[in-house]
Amino acid sequence: MEWKWKTIIEPFKIKTVEPLGLTTREERLTVLEQAHYNLFNIRAEKVLVDLLTDSGTGAMSAAQWGGIMVGDESYAGARSYYNFEKEIRGLTGFDEIIPVHQGRAAEKILFGVIGGKGRYIISNSHFDTTRANVEFSGAQAMDFPVKEAMDFDRPAPFKGNADIAAMEKFIKEKGAENIPLCVMTVTNNSLGGQPVSMQNLKAARGLCRKYGISMFLDCARFAENAYFIKLREKGYAQCPVKEIAQEMFKLADGAWMSAKKDALVNIGGFLAMNDRTWSAKARQMLILTEGFSTYGGLAGRDLEAIAIGLREVLDENYLQYRIRSAQYLGEGLLNHGVPIINPPGGHGVYVNAKKFLPHIKPHQFPAQALACALYLEGGIRGVEIGTLMFGKRDKAGKFLPAPMELVRLAMPRRVYTQSHIDYVIEVFGWIAKNKKRIKGLEIMEASEILPHFTAKLKPVKPGKGT
Ligand code: F0G
Repeated sequence: MEWKWKTIIEPFKIKTVEPLGLTTREERLTVLEQAHYNLFNIRAEKVLVDLLTDSGTGAMSAAQWGGIMVGDESYAGARSYYNFEKEIRGLTGFDEIIPVHQGRAAEKILFGVIGGKGRYIISNSHFDTTRANVEFSGAQAMDFPVKEAMDFDRPAPFKGNADIAAMEKFIKEKGAENIPLCVMTVTNNSLGGQPVSMQNLKAARGLCRKYGISMFLDCARFAENAYFIKLREKGYAQCPVKEIAQEMFKLADGAWMSAKKDALVNIGGFLAMNDRTWSAKARQMLILTEGFSTYGGLAGRDLEAIAIGLREVLDENYLQYRIRSAQYLGEGLLNHGVPIINPPGGHGVYVNAKKFLPHIKPHQFPAQALACALYLEGGIRGVEIGTLMFGKRDKAGKFLPAPMELVRLAMPRRVYTQSHIDYVIEVFGWIAKNKKRIKGLEIMEASEILPHFTAKLKPVKPGKGT
């Protein structure tokens, strides 16, 4: 429907509600201490507005819950699998559709097949689990974001793009035979949920063709990316988002998806491609680690809900509300002088903690410190994307400062209303006025792989350089 009003409304009404737990600041301080200043260790019921992730945290529609009831739970050849396969084939155009329980399962399988020592995977930016799975296979994950992606303050329409010239230079240096895959992550989660333009996807496609490299989309947020193309790229304003998405997929040789994002479900994913040699190997791995090829670690009902979600997410009224929600939060934070990656991304807002808290040294985890302060003051949970998440260390095991210190406020789909977001903005306003009170953190314990999930931290003692 054509919408002529300034106020963009939630294009749904609420049928089921879940109470939110209110806590006091004192209670939250105890919770934070017990969680060792790691927000992954907090019981969700102690969180008021949970912006940790948009992954698997969305609200399903009545139609999806209906799909749950009619899901076919047959071990092999379930009807729900064929609904799932048909929907994904129709959208992506790929023949080989492999269900998995979530995105990283697809990554583990794919890089088990095509990764390995001496190989490189190139990308606009790998998401952290993608990087971890590439590296676990023995291969190296190389990011080639465009320069404007790192200029957080200055808006640009497609900061998710890949630097094609830098990619080509790298291919020439390392030899195309050592690079089995180029991954285009849409939207680019690690760098602000920023979209990739169709033009950039075409350029990446051209480059891959030239050197005989396959191109896959990591398409967790394909619909948000397609909607941004509609809004921002010349020639697409009149094009239905579904067609834009189909055009994106047409440029690729395959894709994987964490369905927990733009398929509007709480669990699920898929790996899709045309190459039968790769898909045959992937299915062997699937049976070993996930399950038979017509359910892949999911229940029949999950497959049914994904098929429905993939249709619902392309509703342009939904996408208008979705993109506007992140913009609204972004505008609110900017009004309080909180620096963000500008413009806001599709699935949330990324606060530039390095700029916001210059009094906290990079090795004292400024973004993690801000995430903890948000929880302490307002019961709001975001996630650090910085030194802790990137987890690079020197020989002595000391964390090396990451190039960026961000706190991501990811918005679950169809879950929170505008007043929740107004509250988040108000809390940020208070924090902005009192930010000097926030202290840095130091590590007590951290694992080798993906340390941010399990690390234990504590506030730096006064006099230790804060
Ligand atoms: N690729 C991208 C771009 C992602 O954002 C994620 C997950 C994955 C792959 C892995 O999928 O979680 O289903 O195994 N992102 C979540 C997040 C965890 O919070 O951004 P998964």
